[in-house]
Amino acid sequence: MRKIIIPLILLWAVSAYSQHRSGEEAKGSRSYNDYEKPETCASCHTSIYRQWRSAMMSQSYTHHWDEIEYFDLAVEHAKKDPSLKEVVDGCNGCHAPLAYLAGDIPPPRPSEGSRANEGVSCDLCHTITGVDEDPPVNFSWISEPGRTKYGSKPGLESPHHITEYNELFTKTELCGSCHNEKNPYGIWVKSTQIEWKEGPYSSEGVKCLDCHMPKARGRSAKMAEEGIISQHIFLGAHKPAKLRGAIELSMHALEPEVPYDGTAVIKVELFNAKAGHKIPTGSVEDRILWLELTAVDEDGKEYNIPVDRKGFKGEEFTIGTDESAYVDMGIPLGKPDFKGVPREQVQKGSRIFRMPYLDKNGVMTIMQWNTRKLGVDYRIGPRETKVETYSWTMPDDIAFGKVRITATLNYRKLIKPVAEYLGVPAEESEIDMINQTSAEILVYD
Ligand code: HEC
Ligand code: HEC
Ligand code: HEC
Ligand code: HEC
Ligand code: HEC
Repeated sequence: MRKIIIPLILLWAVSAYSQHRSGEEAKGSRSYNDYEKPETCASCHTSIYRQWRSAMMSQSYTHHWDEIEYFDLAVEHAKKDPSLKEVVDGCNGCHAPLAYLAGDIPPPRPSEGSRANEGVSCDLCHTITGVDEDPPVNFSWISEPGRTKYGSKPGLESPHHITEYNELFTKTELCGSCHNEKNPYGIWVKSTQIEWKEGPYSSEGVKCLDCHMPKARGRSAKMAEEGIISQHIFLGAHKPAKLRGAIELSMHALEPEVPYDGTAVIKVELFNAKAGHKIPTGSVEDRILWLELTAVDEDGKEYNIPVDRKGFKGEEFTIGTDESAYVDMGIPLGKPDFKGVPREQVQKGSRIFRMPYLDKNGVMTIMQWNTRKLGVDYRIGPRETKVETYSWTMPDDIAFGKVRITATLNYRKLIKPVAEYLGVPAEESEIDMINQTSAEILVYD
């Protein structure tokens, strides 16, 4: 008898273990067929499906910049340095989770129409039963596909599946399992959920869901009763409407009137009024947020005003220059003599709100997996206000009279010279204006 029981217990233990794998352990532990297609859910959850379709969550594998960075940089880098294979396979853990679980790596290109294209799908999220790490990081969710779909509302009934309440669906850890990431050198290359936790919103109970899955009256399924339904819209940096006004701007001159040979001192306050984390957050290596100050005198002549330096360590990364960076792209691209591309291509002397990701030579990189060190964190935290000062010595040729000063806070999802060099469609490096304000001073003789 004992002879049979022991192997049975072992078998049970092994299968229980395989049911609860998370992160890298889960690679290849499932098949695509374990997961239902989003179109199946769409037949009842029509509106939620439409929302998800237009959100980045459904494009996490097919989106052009993701395809370019994954195939042209990451996969090529791992071919040249095999020690990177695990981490490059791991891109799929968050971007093409079904392919990762099925062990279909690298997945077929998006144009081939495989199920990797489903990205972060309905059935992936709604079969997550737990998150294995604290803080959540590196796709440490546990997925248990099957008839049961988990959610945040107890007691719902569906003709298609069993529904079960799981507290995780009310928490930020679910999101954090993909929105926090640590690279092979132990560097936090994404920390949106950690920023939230350390910020003011966590203690007030305002979560990711409240801002990214807002609630509205409606029906979640065709045959369901009306209720207050979570909208699967996931607006983020790809929606100008979400970015606009996320930071409030105000500006004043210390003296409203300045003699023609004097110095105007202008202060600009930037308040992160809307985001529950820093701005920028997430793909901080790609994003750029910068403040430009320009003045126009009575004759219509325009001047650019550079920001005053504050003198903190690493400040050089926060001021617009025409230097080059991103030299490490030469490795995957097979160009050992690559000199890089311009570091930002924004108005010289602008203040940049960023945290540089540095390669082993201390040069800025957009290859987050190749980051050895993070530079100064000069982003704008949740409800934080940063104040910038501009001491502007009047140019000799300025016209007397009114001078209009304008502060413009701009954002790009991807550094423009990088986008151009890699052939990423222009929409990815278009300027999104977040805010603008102006003030007048009087220049007298
Ligand atoms: C035949 C129709 C039908 C199909 C197909 C269907 N559902 Fe549902 N689902 C429902 C109904 C009805 C409810 C209950 C809605 C209510 O009462 O508000 C529901 C509820 C849910 C809930 C809420 C659970 C909770 O406790 O909060 C989730 C999550 C869910 N479905 C996910 C899915 C996913 C994922 C798919 C596709 C794999 C899917 N559903 C396919 C009809 C369907
Ligand atoms: C108080 C509202 C609020 C909360 C809470 C909040 N966010 Fe955001 N989030 C925003 C706003 C506004 C933006 C747009 C500005 C920006 O890009 O930062 C944004 C942007 C984002 C972006 C795109 C950032 C980029 O630069 O690509 C991601 C991803 C994101 N949020 C995820 C999360 C996650 C995950 C949580 C929970 C841990 C969360 N958010 C909590 C308001 C919020
Ligand atoms: C990134 C993970 C994620 C994805 C992808 C996702 N959901 Fe959800 N869904 C959630 C969370 C979290 C909630 C609970 C939100 C809350 O309580 O505010 C939820 C709630 C729901 C509900 C209950 C809505 C209500 O308020 O009654 C349904 C139904 C649902 N999802 C179906 C779907 C379908 C269908 C898809 C694909 C088209 C999908 N979900 C994709 C995370 C996700
Ligand atoms: C399985 C991994 C995974 C989970 C879980 C997940 N996300 Fe995401 N999310 C992603 C990926 C990958 C992207 C990036 C899509 C792309 O390639 O641009 C993304 C994009 C987003 C964006 C859009 C950012 C933009 O730039 O426009 C928002 C907002 C967001 N997620 C919020 C959430 C919230 C809120 C939750 C929790 C309910 C959540 N995510 C859970 C993987 C995940
Ligand atoms: C732990 C989960 C996770 C892993 C692992 C991961 N990513 Fe991401 N990735 C995300 C999330 C979440 C976002 C969206 C962040 C945001 O919008 O701020 C993102 C954003 C991106 C973007 C920018 C997308 C856009 O639309 O602007 C690219 C490109 C990208 N990832 C490529 C990769 C590559 C290549 C790898 C592997 C080397 C990788 N990612 C590994 C979660 C992950």
